[in-house]
Amino acid sequence: MKIRVAVITASTTGYAGKREDISGAKICEIVEEAGMEVTFKKILPDDRETLAKVMAVIADSQMADLILTTGGTGFSKTDCTPEATTDICERLVPGIPEAMRAASMKYTKRAMLSRAVAGIRKETLIINLPGSPKAVEESLEEILEEVIHGVEILT
Ligand code: MTE
Repeated sequence: MKIRVAVITASTTGYAGKREDISGAKICEIVEEAGMEVTFKKILPDDRETLAKVMAVIADSQMADLILTTGGTGFSKTDCTPEATTDICERLVPGIPEAMRAASMKYTKRAMLSRAVAGIRKETLIINLPGSPKAVEESLEEILEEVIHGVEILT
């Protein structure tokens, strides 16, 4: 059975149709290349309650085994993806964002500025990725193999 992935782009400007969702498309490309299936893809505004609610519904209705978010992990006042994720996770998985940040430091020291978190709700693993397509690629490259193993244990 293929791992089912939900891709959520947190971007108020993207949600308003004012910016192309290159990072969301990049995630789809990478996970499909790795043999997974994208079952949900949406751009949402940087709104803590909306993000939390959508992620909770996806996990509770078992629409996806893995939720990958992109964007909203930085310091801007509107960035709230880590808070929304923490709100609805039952168990946190700090090792995944730790690994992403550690590996990403070789590309840019600004990797330390991402507040991304990862966690589990029911049988769904949720991982925050930073917002740029470059960051998405660099982060997924580091974690994807082990994430597949983790999801297999979880489901
Ligand atoms: N991680 C990687 N691998 N590559 C990057 O270019 N950019 C950083 C960081 N993580 C970056 C990265 C920067 S500049 C910021 S501000 C934070 O991610 C948060 O990004 P976000 O607010 O778009 O989520």
